[in-house]
Amino acid sequence: MRTPMIAGNWKMNILKDNDDFPEQIYVNKINEAIKEKDVEVAIFPPFTHLGLIYGLADELPDNKSFNVGVQNISDNEKGAFTGDVSAELVSDVGGNIVILGHSERRSIHKETNEEICKKAKIAIKNGLQAVICIGETDEQNQSGDTLKVISEQFEKSTPSDIDVNSVVIAYEPVWAIGTGRTPSIDDIENIHSSLRKYISQSRGEEFANSVRILYGGSVNAKNGAEILGLNNVDGALVGGASLITEDFVKIIKSL
Ligand code: 13P
Repeated sequence: MRTPMIAGNWKMNILKDNDDFPEQIYVNKINEAIKEKDVEVAIFPPFTHLGLIYGLADELPDNKSFNVGVQNISDNEKGAFTGDVSAELVSDVGGNIVILGHSERRSIHKETNEEICKKAKIAIKNGLQAVICIGETDEQNQSGDTLKVISEQFEKSTPSDIDVNSVVIAYEPVWAIGTGRTPSIDDIENIHSSLRKYISQSRGEEFANSVRILYGGSVNAKNGAEILGLNNVDGALVGGASLITEDFVKIIKSL
């Protein structure tokens, strides 16, 4: 009912012509894995690599489930915004998906839920699927506020009256990102199912049952299968392990 999505967020990494990371092999191996499983993959390279990765993916004979996108867009549609990249520019060169409200943008660039919501509306208007990230800090987790924090982030960052297929939610506990720590398997399932219940109250049962909720934060080739096996986990948003071809492919194949 919900096709799982495995997403790779490269963050600000990978130079071209890198012998340790041949993009052509990366794209080909991912595509072989896609064919074995009922899965959608989304790759989020830096802006500078979007054309390169899209070009490689576009040459694949059957590439419907291979999405390429970016890690952020401007909250303006076009014009005099030096240094910004709009949704329309991304779409123009083949991107069809964007990560919005990643915790690194919320904390480093002080992005607010309202800005993220505005970006999501612009993304969707320009044909990009919006992967909206939510997640609590260590402190919020310790004080038992996880559900309160993430449901508020969901509510304010996700536009209302949208087609469910235009968004994906990524639950990424801030304290699990790049740390090698993850919530327990039971906690991941409980948080995802509680979030889905919240979404059902807020956006209706049909929307809640159809929207994909990915888990992100220290997903790797070892823990991928267990996390992806959970009922309310519809895929993963992978950082570090998405830069190791064998590990990323293993995560896809562990579905
Ligand atoms: P890691 O998988 O490196 O913990 O990063 C997760 C993340 O931030 C993906 O967006």
